[in-house]
Amino acid sequence: MTDTLAPQEANGSAAPAVPAARRLFIKTYGCQMNVYDSERMADVLRPLGYAPTDTPEGADFVILNTCHIREKAAEKVYSELGKLRQMKEARAAAGQGAMTIAVAGCVAQAEGEEIMRRQPAVDLVVGPQAYHQLPELLTRTARARGERIGADFAPNEKFDAMPAVRGVDGPTAFLTVQEGCDKFCSFCVVPYTRGAEWSRPVVDVLAEARGLAEQGVREVTLLGQNVNAYDGTGADGAVWSLARLARALADIPGIARIRYTTSHPNDMSDDLIAAHGELEALMPYLHLPVQSGSDRILRLMNRKHGRQTYIDLIGRIRRARPDIAISGDFIVGFPGETDRDFEDTLGLVREVGYASAFSFLYSPRPGTPAATMGTPVPGDVALSRLHALQALLLDQQTAFNVAQAGRTLDVLFEKKGRHGTQAIGRSPYLQSVHVEDADHLIGQIVPVRIEHGQQNSLKGRLIGA
Ligand code: SAH
Ligand code: SF4
Ligand code: F3S
Repeated sequence: MTDTLAPQEANGSAAPAVPAARRLFIKTYGCQMNVYDSERMADVLRPLGYAPTDTPEGADFVILNTCHIREKAAEKVYSELGKLRQMKEARAAAGQGAMTIAVAGCVAQAEGEEIMRRQPAVDLVVGPQAYHQLPELLTRTARARGERIGADFAPNEKFDAMPAVRGVDGPTAFLTVQEGCDKFCSFCVVPYTRGAEWSRPVVDVLAEARGLAEQGVREVTLLGQNVNAYDGTGADGAVWSLARLARALADIPGIARIRYTTSHPNDMSDDLIAAHGELEALMPYLHLPVQSGSDRILRLMNRKHGRQTYIDLIGRIRRARPDIAISGDFIVGFPGETDRDFEDTLGLVREVGYASAFSFLYSPRPGTPAATMGTPVPGDVALSRLHALQALLLDQQTAFNVAQAGRTLDVLFEKKGRHGTQAIGRSPYLQSVHVEDADHLIGQIVPVRIEHGQQNSLKGRLIGA
């Protein structure tokens, strides 16, 4: 058969080869795992004729992929839904056809019924482990509103149902290798919204990575709520650690850089630490949240490790890879946190020295043990602690960036800059690097002379430029 003849014509079928174009708008909240999931939702909907658009106006299908981690994140969903309802009604009134609205992600999992009750414009609700069922749900919703899927956690079914080919956007990609969390930190909803820890089989991860590399991806970031707890089964029947997985990924032609996030200190195994010293493709950057520097608070948080254990761990990682950039997450204002506890957090930050970090005000989450624990810290006290911590972290981040001046760093160029022929890429330490006359290098890893560093980015020039 020649390639000019579509199979449908050859066998006389009247079915159109490509369904009519429908517009899909997905808004993503929360962590990188949601970013990955949103891309995969687009992948499962593509065969139905849905093409992504970047505004909800005029979209036939709108998905909010939501986050439940803090109250503000969850509440945002309801205000967004209010706006979408108006859009949906205006569209119907103008005779422009139906707009289907779905809520996906962690709020969908945690408060599915409440969403349906509070916002009648929502057509369907789908949890993070059930979005492979979107095509089927859409067909059913066309007949009756009100599907809610997602109470059971079976990530393997989701991954098995995904199309083999992913849509990629640029030379970097996320790749989920692990789902869920068994740690039950007392403040956190993730074990309830994402379910138990589960790792994808090695062959599946390698196949997805090969597919990405064939499409020009040079850097993969392996994702999981506790990615360093990865224990997927290999083709040999053995359980593979994240370090072993990273070594196999590094052998795939085209994959030059590997990152992973997020990790729990207790799962930072010796072979992973060693890999940081030995595996060139494993980038010298590690997001290793500690949450607090006070042993008393760490106990109340059920983190299952102490302050000194974390500091010693960072020491071991730095011995394996001295230049590694350390990043973290912190919560301030946990119930019962005293000035003394907070001083311990500042002390830990000074001792570790972070290249970047995220810090949050504690937000009580329904159903978590911490929500009914101890005395709440007054709002103004918590806020002033947050500001003090953020000032210190920002100083450290700026100092880390400024210290890159004069060095030559390999930069993976990802996209065009805002003006002219500028391009923006990433250093091995995940810093954003702006370089003039480099827009022809997108997708390539090129040595860049760093001229100066500032709070949020670096500026450099091509060698010889
Ligand atoms: N699995 C990751 C974290 C996922 S949540 C890990 O353990 O590192 C991302 C961050 O949100 C957490 O590290 C924590 O700092 C913050 N967070 C989680 N629950 C929170 C809450 N109830 N209030 C404020 N911040 C919270
Ligand atoms: Fe949440 Fe703790 Fe699990 Fe991280 S390790 S997802 S903070 S319960
Ligand atoms: Fe939010 Fe769910 Fe991620 S609660 S942080 S989107 S795992």
